Amino acid sequence: MRKKVTVVGGGFVGSTAAQRIADAELADVVLTDILEGVPAGKGLDMLESGPILRSDARVIGISTNTGDYRETANSDIVVITAGFPRKPGMSRDDLLRANYDVVKGVVEQMAKYSPNAILIMVTNPLDAMAQAAYKISGFSKNRVMGMAGVLDSARMSTFVAMELGVSVENVHSFVLGGHGDDMVPLPRYSTVAGIPLPDLLPKERIDAIVERTRKGGAEIVNLLKTGSAYYAPSAAVFEMVEAILKDKEKILPCAAYLEGEYSIKGLFVGVPVKLGARGVEQIIQIKLTPEENAALQKSAASVRELVTVLGL
Ligand code: LAC
Repeated sequence: MRKKVTVVGGGFVGSTAAQRIADAELADVVLTDILEGVPAGKGLDMLESGPILRSDARVIGISTNTGDYRETANSDIVVITAGFPRKPGMSRDDLLRANYDVVKGVVEQMAKYSPNAILIMVTNPLDAMAQAAYKISGFSKNRVMGMAGVLDSARMSTFVAMELGVSVENVHSFVLGGHGDDMVPLPRYSTVAGIPLPDLLPKERIDAIVERTRKGGAEIVNLLKTGSAYYAPSAAVFEMVEAILKDKEKILPCAAYLEGEYSIKGLFVGVPVKLGARGVEQIIQIKLTPEENAALQKSAASVRELVTVLGL
C-alpha cells in the first residue's frame, strides 16, 4: 500500500517539507491550508515536477476552508506546520496562544480522519504544541512528537563543520531540551569522525558554537525579516518522516513525552529517541553531568511554564 503524509500548513515550512517528501517519492502528499487556491496550486505545481524528477508521488493541495478533510483520511503521518511564524523581536513563546487555537482545530480534524496516524508537530512553540496535540488527539505517546532537535543539531553541525573545515558528514551534534532560547547543546556528546568536540576545539570556540546554535532560529528570522527558517526545518521533518516510513529505528533528538525519564514527568521535551514505524519506539537515556542535567531541567521548566499557561 502507498504511504500517505498530510502536511498541514502550506507556508514555507509546510510546502518545502511536502516538496522534499514528494521529490524523494517517499509518500503521497496532501498539503492543506486555510487559504483558498494556494494549496491546490502548490500541490499541482509539485505534481507537475514529478515527470522531471521521476517521482510518482501523488500530490494534492486542499483548502480546509472550502475543501474536504476526507482527502487527508488514513494518513500514515500528519505533519503540522500551521500557525503564525516568528517575526523579528518575537520569541517562539510569543506565539503560544494564537498557535494553540490553530493547532487545536487542526488536531481535532486530523485525529478524526486519520486515527492511526503519527503526528509530528512543527508549529511553535513546538514542545508545548506537541503537548497540546497529545492531549487533544488522545493518541498514545509514541504517536505524537515534535520536530526540533534534528534542526537544532543540524545547525550545530553546520557551525562545527565550518569551524573545523571538515565535511558535515563527519559531524554528529547533540542538542536536547525544549526548542527555545535555553535549549541544551551537548558538546561532550557531539563528535567529529567519532572524536568528541572538546578534544578538537578550545572551550571558547565551543561556547561560541553553542551560543550561535541557541540563536540559530533568530539569526534567520533577523535576516529574512518577514518570516522564519524553512529549508533546514523542512529537511529535519523529512529525516523524521523517512525514519518512520522506512522503519529505520533511527536515533534522533525529538520532542517526546517523558514519564520520568531524565527525571521529567508528564512533559514533552527534546531527548534522543528511536524513531521507527511505531513512532517514538524508545527514549534513549544518556548520562548527563550535573551541569548538563541542570541545563536540561531549566529548559524543561520553560516548557512547563508554557503548558501550564495553556492548562495542559
Ligand atoms: C527556527 C524557528 C522557526 O528555529 O523555531 O528556525
